[in-house]
Amino acid sequence: MGPLLEMRGITKRFPGVVALEEVDFELEKGEVHVLLGENGAGKSTLVKMLSGAYRPDEGEILLDGEPASISSATDAQELGISTIYQEFNLVPQLTVAENIFLGRQPRRFGIVNRRKMREEARKLLERMKVRVDPEALISDLGVAQRQMVEIAKALSLNARILIMDEPTASLSGQEVKRLFEIVRGLKQEEVAMIFISHHLEEVAEIGDRVTVLRDGKVVDRVPASTEHSELVRMMVGRSVEAQFPRRRPEIGEILLEVKNLSREGVLEDVSFSLCAGEVVGIAGIVGAGRTELARAIFGADPVDSGEVWVEERRMERGDPREAKRRGMGLVTEDRQGQGIVPPLSVAENLGLASLERNTSAGLVNRREQRKQAEKIIEDLNIRTPGPDQEIRYLSGGNQQKVVIGKWLLADSRVLIMDEPTRGIDVGAKVEIYELMNELTENGAGILMISSDLPEVLGMSDRILVMSGGRITGELSAEEANGENVMELATRGSEAAVE
Ligand SMILES: Nc1ncnc2c1ncn2[C@@H]1O[C@H](COP(=O)(O)OP(=O)(O)OP(=O)(O)O)[C@@H](O)[C@H]1O
Ligand SMILES: [Mg+2]
Repeated sequence: MGPLLEMRGITKRFPGVVALEEVDFELEKGEVHVLLGENGAGKSTLVKMLSGAYRPDEGEILLDGEPASISSATDAQELGISTIYQEFNLVPQLTVAENIFLGRQPRRFGIVNRRKMREEARKLLERMKVRVDPEALISDLGVAQRQMVEIAKALSLNARILIMDEPTASLSGQEVKRLFEIVRGLKQEEVAMIFISHHLEEVAEIGDRVTVLRDGKVVDRVPASTEHSELVRMMVGRSVEAQFPRRRPEIGEILLEVKNLSREGVLEDVSFSLCAGEVVGIAGIVGAGRTELARAIFGADPVDSGEVWVEERRMERGDPREAKRRGMGLVTEDRQGQGIVPPLSVAENLGLASLERNTSAGLVNRREQRKQAEKIIEDLNIRTPGPDQEIRYLSGGNQQKVVIGKWLLADSRVLIMDEPTRGIDVGAKVEIYELMNELTENGAGILMISSDLPEVLGMSDRILVMSGGRITGELSAEEANGENVMELATRGSEAAVE
């Protein structure tokens, strides 16, 4: 018997880019097949052929040995293919239950049977052991919970093929474990899964086979137990040395002081300081209040009490404009929502945070802006046909690189980075770490929020751990390890998706 799914000779071109070139791929029943590749390698494009978002220019797709034509989301659904996208696909204004059953609510006498819908949703969420209220609004949920709702929605469609495009990118340790339990359960039910991730340690843990893509072509198909270093070499075409190349410069004067910052139900009496030359990591589980802290410091959210001081002067108004003027930068966690302006070009997006510097007498110096953009595109290896490409056509990871690049160009002295390497491939991560080294060597201070524990441990000089809106402990780079960070991260709260 042949495989459940076979893709043969798939080619897809976009203006200026060959996203996929004669790609072969196969998937067996009950298999977890991992797709690996650098940012822009073509992973999302390949799975979009299965969800009906794109059609191949050449090649064919076989399901159970029969040619399949998938030209819409409905086609995919009818064939039993469900996708959890890299970008969330939920409607924020609707409830969890409404989102799960969007467009196909259980009806009675033509009227949506809300009670039945709620019940069904509750059952699904219970099957996944997720404690999310079916009546909660999506807009009130955190990223991890939204992810779980996406999966519940896919399950409710009784998918035989489940596609997950970077499902673990926004999850921390506990939630990843939970997700993998769900995946193992689905394997038992013979559901086949395509799994995309930039976390190599997940490959062997959850995968059976791996297909590696580079520049739109298949490099090889190997067992998931293949050595990391070998997988990396296949992805980037060379070996990548130092995973966390942190160099510790001299510590200078205090750049940022946060004094007793509080906001009811969100932040509780948070105080700490950040010096020139330092990378201070903020660890914690999803929902600990880390993003809220970053936003409060930057003046994006109001606080009830407390003060923020930058270079020995108090922030007076506490709004993002003042923050920027005072040399602060914020790389946001949610790149789709806050990080980028989709209809603008790569160069324009890169120039957004340094606009003032490149403007004189009301005129933007386009040449200068372009020159700087070209440098960042090269430094961060941003995959784009050119600086004038609209950013929305870039792959997820390359959009993230633009968000980081924008703040690198702004010459911020205090840089707050919220999950800076989320969705970034292994090679590019090291480039970003190198840039963090350079920035701190030049006297900047970096506050790095990250759910990636090895990254926090590997790149921070000091680690603050948050739980329930409070700082539960501070550890030096020398004393910190996985255990003591997790212990502080779960102190006084339940470590679960709730
Ligand atoms: N609609 C589009 N128009 C133009 N170019 C596109 C479009 N969609 C994708 N591309 C290009 O195709 C290539 C492959 O992109 P894809 O999103 O598949 O990468 P990826 O492997 O998923 O990367 P990442 O890890 O960053 O998510 C990239 O160069 C991207 O810019
Ligand atoms: Mg992608």
